[in-house]
Amino acid sequence: MSSRKLIVGNWKMNTTLSEAIILAEGIKEGLSTHQVAGIDVVLCPPFPWIVPVAEALSRHRLAHLKVGAQDVSWQEEGTYTGEVSAPMLKGLVDYVIVGHSERRQHFHETDQEVLAKVRLAIKFGLKPILCVGELKPGSIRLAIEQLEAVIKHLTKAEREELVVAYEPVWAISKGKSHADAVGSSQAEQPVSASGLSAQSVANQLRQLLPTSTPILYGGSVSAENAREFLTQPDIDGVLVGGASLKVSQFIAICRSAIN
Ligand code: PGA
Repeated sequence: MSSRKLIVGNWKMNTTLSEAIILAEGIKEGLSTHQVAGIDVVLCPPFPWIVPVAEALSRHRLAHLKVGAQDVSWQEEGTYTGEVSAPMLKGLVDYVIVGHSERRQHFHETDQEVLAKVRLAIKFGLKPILCVGELKPGSIRLAIEQLEAVIKHLTKAEREELVVAYEPVWAISKGKSHADAVGSSQAEQPVSASGLSAQSVANQLRQLLPTSTPILYGGSVSAENAREFLTQPDIDGVLVGGASLKVSQFIAICRSAIN
């Protein structure tokens, strides 16, 4: 279990350059204004905005506000058109999301590729946020299998570097905040996991991990429900999609991690 809460914003394939800068600056200002301290906050913009967002954050830098990437290549270098490697990201970001369910689903990422990404991230000094999650409510076997498929190949030292995000696939992008942020009128009713069910899975995942591993919950986290997750004993933070695109929502989530 980690002593500091970790709040990660996954912007996915959203924002123009100017929207990204406004969002990053708004979050930085919100964290300062509300004196949100004692937690770590990571913003994961799309690849092309990583450098300008990092530059925007570097003016009057907040030590606990960091930048992450949404993915990394499974290869270190070479003839892989369109890929972005861990050595390219080294020095630009501190964290990288790996094995997100959208990548597993749309890009058919396998456990072997996810493992390779995790290892390369660690090799180049990046903290991998390994996402695992079951497809349907109630059948958590897949989440456990996805975690086991990676950690059984990692050394003890590599395991110490992991952050794990439990993201039930059925709960992703279902919240009201998602509809508000991305402008969809089709959003279904919120169906995030309950705090207690997420805690139960987080506890099972923890049995497989070093005690210090931060475990995040993700899936329709909002300003309204964040506290329900953040107060669970085995949940060390949240991975936020839709609600990370609105300054007020995201700051409210960060604030619920401290009081
Ligand atoms: P959501 O996304 O908060 O919009 O459900 C979470 C995620 O996919 O990481």
